Amino acid sequence: MKASKLLEPADKVEASLLEKLEVQRLPRHVAIIMDGNGRWAQKRHLPRIAGHSAGVRAAREAIETCARLHLSALTLYAFSVENWRRPKTEVNFLMRLLREYLKKELPVIHENNIRLLVIGRPAELPDGVRSDLERGIELTSKNTGMKLVVALNYGARAELVDAFNALLDGVRSTTTNGALANLRVNEQMISDHLYTAGLPDPDFLIRTSGELRISNFLLWQIAYAELYVTDVLWPDFNRARLLEALLEYQSRERRYGGLASESGDSYTGSNPGDSNSAGSGASRSNSGRS
Ligand code: FPP
Repeated sequence: MKASKLLEPADKVEASLLEKLEVQRLPRHVAIIMDGNGRWAQKRHLPRIAGHSAGVRAAREAIETCARLHLSALTLYAFSVENWRRPKTEVNFLMRLLREYLKKELPVIHENNIRLLVIGRPAELPDGVRSDLERGIELTSKNTGMKLVVALNYGARAELVDAFNALLDGVRSTTTNGALANLRVNEQMISDHLYTAGLPDPDFLIRTSGELRISNFLLWQIAYAELYVTDVLWPDFNRARLLEALLEYQSRERRYGGLASESGDSYTGSNPGDSNSAGSGASRSNSGRS
């Protein structure tokens, strides 16, 4: 099926991209490092925070597009554990922006059957942000459409540390004699203790604004993801740019370390590293639950 059956194009460019996009060959899970808000503002002689406001518009468009294309999950890197190092005024602005976004968009998210999830360490977020997020997560918890995963106060190394500690806590709490002494871990056990437990691993990682870095994002989960870096700054990453990225994904041949002839058409979404069961749904963090 062509994607043009799912999305109403806004112009000829979108119409032509949608015509080429095949629904069966879309990634199940797209993860995005939204970078370049500051540079977008700087180019316009605006304060950095104006770039973040424009970034919210781009995020809204990406969420709507991915949900209409029936992706299973979209993960947005909104605030990293390193982002606390930014000026306090910028951090406060980002937190306020997130609350405003939730207030305005949550009803739309809910109406569109999207399920909101958060990964990261929410316990360290301001109380107001945390309670708004909890409300959104609860409100949408029964929704069966796309999972919108917001990475907030997120760091992949912190996630792995939390996963190993949760795993150890689980073993220590068992009554079986020698459980800890005999503990051996495997990939499934690690995946099951990550914040993203229950989600499929991302098939496609997009980074805007040209930096060739992963920035401590989903280090375990992107083992087999296709990478896409564009020079476009995040606020300019509109629907047409996203559709172009998805078309590029469709042109990639995913081999998972095997040979092209063995892998065939691998766009079924399952891969050797994809040890999570798709869509079962419970995303969580080990220090605050979300
Ligand atoms: C990077 O730009 C972006 C961020 C720090 C994240 C902020 C994201 C948004 C405001 C989008 C909103 C998201 C949701 C879920 C509503 P940067 O400041 O690092 O840009 P620079 O590298 O050009 O300075």
